[in-house]
Amino acid sequence: MQIPSLRVSVTHRCNLRCTYCHGEGAREVRSDRRLSPAEIERIVRAGTAFGVRKVKLTGGEPLLRRDVAEVVRRLAALQGIAGVTLTTNGVLLAEHAEELSAAGLTRVNVSLDTLDERLYFRLTGGELRRVLAGVEAALEAGLRVELNTVLMRGLNEGEVWSMVEFASQHACSLQLIELAEPAESSDFYRRHHMSLDGVERELKRRGEVLRRRRSPHDRPVYLVQGVRVSLCTSVRSTAGCSGVRCSGLRLTADGCLRGFRYSDSERVEVPGDEEGIKRAFEAALSMLAERGDELAGA
Ligand code: 5AD
Repeated sequence: MQIPSLRVSVTHRCNLRCTYCHGEGAREVRSDRRLSPAEIERIVRAGTAFGVRKVKLTGGEPLLRRDVAEVVRRLAALQGIAGVTLTTNGVLLAEHAEELSAAGLTRVNVSLDTLDERLYFRLTGGELRRVLAGVEAALEAGLRVELNTVLMRGLNEGEVWSMVEFASQHACSLQLIELAEPAESSDFYRRHHMSLDGVERELKRRGEVLRRRRSPHDRPVYLVQGVRVSLCTSVRSTAGCSGVRCSGLRLTADGCLRGFRYSDSERVEVPGDEEGIKRAFEAALSMLAERGDELAGA
């Protein structure tokens, strides 16, 4: 079994409080131990022997780490690594864009669910203008930008075409994400979850299929008004927690390997020595294989 990509959570802390957040990276840490850039590098390097070619840095909010550019620099320089991307809420992006670009970041994914200031504040507790400044700064620094938009019934469902328009004006790509159900049953999910089928029909009507995706729950990428639009469908898991991009391997901020959608007990602690790291990858992979998991892209 090979792992094409690895999601690396660099911190469990976050500076926003999004009402819909499934808490990727936050729920799963058990200690305050945080991997250093050198430790992350060592683990990812070991991962390349198992097929890892792409790394996605996540959090929490990765830009809360002052040394995040150093993490990027070390990973981008590794032999066998073809791309390092980072998912951020964008609030601190204006300050970091230059150094991230210089460090060799391939692309930044910015979570942006609405262009309405008041709704943005209501959903996240943050200031929209900071995120927009972050997007501008990233583009100016020469970074590719993809916007992540979680679609929610009764909240931002009417904004799909203004997001496409915004992405078109800013030369960004756009990822429309189905709201995932949190581990505990949630009122928010029941009220605001919507299927992406209607949106997809409209994309087909207004655009063209650019490329088919490979994994079974993946949908094609569309080209609409010059914008690459992809759809990310959430998949229910057997472990009670569903999530976007639910398959594949993740490295937690405190140094454990786990499948994305598994319960907290299914994790493999990664030791510091090379042989131990290799064994940890083997153990994590056989854990995924036992579940018949599908290894999708990060
Ligand atoms: N459902 C779908 N996507 C979510 N994200 C966070 N919580 C959820 C959820 N419940 C998205 C954010 C961000 C990415 C890391 O995950 O919008 O873009």
